[in-house]
Amino acid sequence: MPKSILVSNVLPHEALALIPRDIDVDYHDSDVALTRSELIRRLRGRDGLICHIISTVDDEVLAAVPTLKVVSNVAVGFNNIDVAAARRRSVVVTNTPDVLTETTADFAWALLMAAARRVVEADAFARGGHWQRWQWDLLWGQDVYGKTLGILGFGRIGRAVARRARGFNMRVLYHDTVRCDEATEREVRAAYTDPETVLRESDFVSLHTVLTPETRHLINERTLRLMKKTAILVNAARGPIVDEAALVRALSEGWIAGAGLDVFEDEPKIHPGLPPLPNVVLAPHIASASVDTRLAMATLAVRNCLAVLDGAPAITPVS
Ligand code: GLV
Repeated sequence: MPKSILVSNVLPHEALALIPRDIDVDYHDSDVALTRSELIRRLRGRDGLICHIISTVDDEVLAAVPTLKVVSNVAVGFNNIDVAAARRRSVVVTNTPDVLTETTADFAWALLMAAARRVVEADAFARGGHWQRWQWDLLWGQDVYGKTLGILGFGRIGRAVARRARGFNMRVLYHDTVRCDEATEREVRAAYTDPETVLRESDFVSLHTVLTPETRHLINERTLRLMKKTAILVNAARGPIVDEAALVRALSEGWIAGAGLDVFEDEPKIHPGLPPLPNVVLAPHIASASVDTRLAMATLAVRNCLAVLDGAPAITPVS
């Protein structure tokens, strides 16, 4: 029997071209997610699935496709996949870490800088023909240089965000469930502390945790009220880490100064309270969206799938 793969969403040609011709490929060349029933129907009898985060691969899907050996996610996050159920059924789950670390960290910084220096408001002002005369108090923002950056979630991306802070001579505080080793702390010049201290003492708080039941609504009314009134929150991790309704209140009532968000609780929906606010920068989940990185992610996802189908270990399995 030839091996067989479902690619459930669009992938670059260069990545698809890596799949040997003797593998049967069903390719859904679209950005639109297959419905659950379509996903199950098109997966039946197949060995591998290469998917984006818009495909939900839960126990019901896995149970319906007992032939499946690998689910290869084209993303570092994998909250769209029931990893425990996959493990029970001996299905390997893979993701695309490393290749997107620096690009995602760049974008977290882009949001931080844009929110701190009001770049989006400035663009709208200049573009909208409002710039009629010199104004001393026009669009004052927050300094970044020399301030305190707090990072919640200190994996690869959190550390890459911390490294960039050296150029801004910032103090960096972080929290994660596991403290990293001293050599890494020295290299990235970050100090470990409890989450409350990170929130209380930071001028910028950037979220880089995975989404789990424990981190859902980690940022909520209580934790937002711990932050400085001048603080800016950045989220380029997963939307549900933040209670969006509480964030809308925090931004409208001045509990914090601003936010930069790439991810949302119910994507692609954005809480209706956010777009009218001038002190939030909004992006449509594009932190890893550079030409090189998206190609690298797609290529790694294909290689992961092919490795497992060849009986080899996955390159980057989800542990
Ligand atoms: C994107 O959100 C990713 O997890 O790679």
